[in-house]
Amino acid sequence: MKAETDKQEQLKAFSLLGKYLAWTALILVGVMFSLVLAISGFHLPRPPCADKPNPSTSGNQLKPVADHIPQPEYWTAPDTTQLQRKADADLIRYGRNLIVSTASYLGPKGTVGKLANGMNCQNCHLDAGTRPFANNFSVFYSGFPKMTARSGRKEEAFERIDECFERSMNGKAPERNSREMQAMLSYLKWIGEKPVDAHPLADNSVKKIPYLSVPADPLKGKMVYASRCSSCHGEAGKGLASIDGKGYIYPPLWGGDSYNDGAGMFRLGNFAGFVKENMPYGTSYKDPVLSDEEAWNVAAYVNSQPRPHLGQKNDYPELSRKPIDYPFGPYADSFTERQHKYGPFIEIEKQHLTKTKK
Ligand code: HEC
Ligand code: HEC
Repeated sequence: MKAETDKQEQLKAFSLLGKYLAWTALILVGVMFSLVLAISGFHLPRPPCADKPNPSTSGNQLKPVADHIPQPEYWTAPDTTQLQRKADADLIRYGRNLIVSTASYLGPKGTVGKLANGMNCQNCHLDAGTRPFANNFSVFYSGFPKMTARSGRKEEAFERIDECFERSMNGKAPERNSREMQAMLSYLKWIGEKPVDAHPLADNSVKKIPYLSVPADPLKGKMVYASRCSSCHGEAGKGLASIDGKGYIYPPLWGGDSYNDGAGMFRLGNFAGFVKENMPYGTSYKDPVLSDEEAWNVAAYVNSQPRPHLGQKNDYPELSRKPIDYPFGPYADSFTERQHKYGPFIEIEKQHLTKTKK
């Protein structure tokens, strides 16, 4: 009987020891695993916005999840104080000046040439093309040369600059080998040389805002314009000229001195996205002033006013690659030019999606 209990005691002790050893081994493996992870710099994915309250949702628990915008660290351009170290610092600085004060150099009264309307590149590429969701140049230089849908062929970086001169600036670009073109390219190279795939927000020229279920309405947009825009851009959309008469304090939004109808801003989605995140001037994408509806409607109002015309029959030679808000036919679908201009875009997009899935 005694031997029996001894054996039982021994067995108990063994199984306890076994359990103890198993746990120790498990813990050891765990510790080693986390050490390896820590050394290799691995981070477990964190839920978006875990640490940053979102201004548009904090204090309002009822907003839908879609409004909860993740805000990973944003691409930042190199600081201009770092320029001293570069051999071509002067050229880069000149390029930056050309983008910030284009009109002074190349506008109708430009000191270097009279090539463009009185606008500055910076009017649309805010903060010299470094601001999030304001047509920044984060992914420009590293992405060229590339095939562009609008031209239907492989383009060099300077040709993309030409396009903004011919469309947004309704003029003509400086020669490829001119000091001006080389300076702008040097600046764009300096701020955007490295591919920035690591930053999900960097690739967005402007934020694509959700489509409306109805066409954008120029008449409703006129009211938005009167209350939110005309104080700076003027009732007649002409902007406010600078005192030296070379350019503008507030750039024009329509009329003979504005961008022409071949420009990126003439597409409603680009305009609405830019304005929602950046206008009235001083607005940040983190705290927009206009609702989506107001942004679409004011875009419809401004882009239904008169402006210079560019023959764009050669744009998007491959019709299926034409953006759905490109307001000039022919199209690969049967929707009208009017619907391609003002929407509703949801139906067009749905048809395009089912087509590409086939
Ligand atoms: C009226 C507004 C406007 C002005 C002024 C303007 N641009 Fe643009 N630019 C745009 C828009 C909008 C896009 C994006 C177009 C698109 O996605 O269809 C763009 C695109 C570009 C791109 C391509 C960016 C990329 O990542 O692919 C470059 C480069 C560029 N612009 C340079 C310039 C330069 C240089 C000037 C001045 C000479 C200028 N732009 C003036 C609106 C403007
Ligand atoms: C407080 C003055 C102010 C108000 C109000 C304002 N803007 Fe602007 N807007 C500016 C300035 C300044 C720029 C040029 C920014 C730069 O060069 O850095 C600009 C640029 C623009 C541009 C790009 C350049 C161009 O001329 O096409 C558009 C488009 C635009 N604004 C639309 C609007 C719309 C639409 C509203 C109303 C919802 C609005 N803005 C309200 C000051 C203002």
